[in-house]
Amino acid sequence: MEATIVSDNVKHYPVLLKEIISVITPQHGGTFIDCTFGQGGYTKEILKYHNTRVIGIDRDSSTKINAKKIEEKFFDRFFFKNLKFSKLNNLKLKNENIKGIIFDLGYSFTQIKDPTKGLSFNSQGDLNMKMGLNDFSANEVINNLEDKELEKILKYFGDENDAKAISRNIVKERQLKKIDTQELIRIIEKSKRKKNYKIHSATKTFQALRIFVNKEISELIRGLINSVKILKKDGVLAVVTFHSLEDKIVKYFFRNLSENKSVSRYEPKLAQKEILFAMPLKKPIIASEKEVKENPPSRSAKLRYLIKQEDSYEIESDILKKFDYLLEIENFGSKLW
Ligand SMILES: C[S@@+](CC[C@H](N)C(=O)[O-])C[C@H]1O[C@@H](n2cnc3c(N)ncnc32)[C@H](O)[C@@H]1O
Repeated sequence: MEATIVSDNVKHYPVLLKEIISVITPQHGGTFIDCTFGQGGYTKEILKYHNTRVIGIDRDSSTKINAKKIEEKFFDRFFFKNLKFSKLNNLKLKNENIKGIIFDLGYSFTQIKDPTKGLSFNSQGDLNMKMGLNDFSANEVINNLEDKELEKILKYFGDENDAKAISRNIVKERQLKKIDTQELIRIIEKSKRKKNYKIHSATKTFQALRIFVNKEISELIRGLINSVKILKKDGVLAVVTFHSLEDKIVKYFFRNLSENKSVSRYEPKLAQKEILFAMPLKKPIIASEKEVKENPPSRSAKLRYLIKQEDSYEIESDILKKFDYLLEIENFGSKLW
């Protein structure tokens, strides 16, 4: 996993920018919600088109500085809120006709470089991994949860093959001393049966902890549900994912909303009610060779999009049930706050 969206130099690369613009078509004007504002790469591009408005949201309060600069220039067309996208429904949208909602999941280069966030393998001191508006940190997770709970987190959120050995060793070693970032890396290296020379030994555990600490599964599911409710007819929902777990959720969700499921011939109305979205492309859009060369982490990016066909929308409960097993794991965190 390498979910950063920028390469090692300081330049910021909004991933798949050209592709996002071609999918949401801001040249026709309208209001857009940038759910993962970050450094405002997408927002700034949309605002270049007249007759557009952007509502930017981000859970990380340090992105307010980026938002302020844009607000000064586009005070009548841009509005920012420090909010998690699971709470999109808290935005006062009046009767605004939202033309597009965009998600660029994961975290930014600025966040990786921020020593207080502890997202990088070089971080010193306590484990953290909070992106903003969190209930607990990775420090509390590693030093408090039971080994079976840790094992499930590493296995299901990080696809870590050595989840069992790592979790056992965490619980054993934390009785001797508190586990900070470097200590955790040492435990992981010691627990792994085989060395993978392609990725850092701690990559999968770090991904799992970051997903758990930031409740990224329920964030994504709620964010998507709220988006499909907010969008009006012809509105576009575009999502960029960086790892297989989030892509699995988006893919399932999008297929379910856009497919005409075979239902009973005695209930033809139900069949019609279910095709509320069009999915023009079955396969995701990926970065061009040129983009991957300039910004290597973009090689993991996948853009999927839907177009709403009707104004109304009712969520089918089976969409939610599919990921109950992940939400149950996420719930282990409720004892930490
Ligand atoms: C990959 S960056 C987005 C970069 C942005 N597209 C740009 O061009 O600058 C992801 C951003 O999403 C934010 N984020 C992640 N999860 C979020 C959530 N659940 N709610 C709101 N913001 C979130 C992160 O704080 C980060 O700033």
